[in-house]
Amino acid sequence: MMDVAVRAEGLVKRYGAVTALDHLDLEVPVGGILGLLGPNGAGKTTAVRILTTLLVPDEGRAVVAGYDVATHPDEVRARIGLSGQYAAVDQDLTGRENLVMVGRLSRLGRRGAQRRAVELLERFDLVDAADRPVKGYSGGMRRRLDLAGALVTTPPVLFLDEPTTGLDPRSRLGMWDVIRELTAAGTTLLLTTQYLEEADQLARDVLVIDDGRAIARGTPDELKTMVGGERVELVVRERALIGRAQTVLARFAIDDVRTDEQTGMVSAAVHGGSATLTQVIDALDQDGVAVGEVGLRRATLDEVFLTLTGAPADARDADAGVEVGA
Ligand SMILES: Nc1ncnc2c1ncn2[C@@H]1O[C@H](COP(=O)(O)OP(=O)(O)OP(=O)(O)O)[C@@H](O)[C@H]1O
Ligand SMILES: [Mg+2]
Repeated sequence: MMDVAVRAEGLVKRYGAVTALDHLDLEVPVGGILGLLGPNGAGKTTAVRILTTLLVPDEGRAVVAGYDVATHPDEVRARIGLSGQYAAVDQDLTGRENLVMVGRLSRLGRRGAQRRAVELLERFDLVDAADRPVKGYSGGMRRRLDLAGALVTTPPVLFLDEPTTGLDPRSRLGMWDVIRELTAAGTTLLLTTQYLEEADQLARDVLVIDDGRAIARGTPDELKTMVGGERVELVVRERALIGRAQTVLARFAIDDVRTDEQTGMVSAAVHGGSATLTQVIDALDQDGVAVGEVGLRRATLDEVFLTLTGAPADARDADAGVEVGA
């Protein structure tokens, strides 16, 4: 049993008419990294809250670090770290005081807690702000402090709910480095994200969820292969020839050829990699279609989303009211 660090079976959580989780199963092996990927409202935070004992499911069960979350919540809590989507830090305390407090609550002792706080402040680039109250921190600084708080006792199983949402690109890369260090050291990680690139960067396995249900699972590469794997992408120099380029590419494509009148981009999923790419270039040349950029690209997880749900992940934010083009 203990080669599995996190196992959830048939989790159901309802809020009135909303089914936040609808029979969700997931598993993370010891030392594994699972990316829970889904758009706003998919059920990511609900799943994390159940697995970290903060919420009781209506149905199903979960075992984390060898203990059932329902019957042994204290044992589970002693073995996990959680960095939530909404930073759980005390606004009136300084960054250092927050970390020391977590250390004391985790029974590190006064000295130990202070030493650990210093290490974490350095690691998360918070030394300059260490002795200022958190209420004066930026959003990114709070996120970093919150993650530092989750690492005070280097738990064997770590849950990170959208660890980089709201961070600027540089802080995001820094956070990825920290996460990679942790997982290289053997920490089991369950991470949620709306960023397909992030799941691709960090996770060995990805579970795509939508409306509380698992809609796909696999390695990032497997998911990309699912939607055709490789795409030939090219930009037609003369917009008038887009149609002709489309016809040529259709001879090699394994599903619909996509075109974009605005940019002149024509693309299609293909088999056969660079050999096919060469044939496409020759065929275009024979048909007198001059192309600018042309290349072979592996599908992104965004395209996985498009294939699975019929909408790109970032077009599903109801608040943003984004219309999805045909
Ligand atoms: N306390 C609550 N009361 C009522 N509905 C809730 C509550 N918490 C979550 N929900 C609903 O459950 C669904 C799943 O929410 P959840 O927060 O788990 O999504 P999420 O994947 O974390 O989304 P986000 O990317 O926006 O953080 C949503 O429809 C949400 O509105
Ligand atoms: Mg959430």
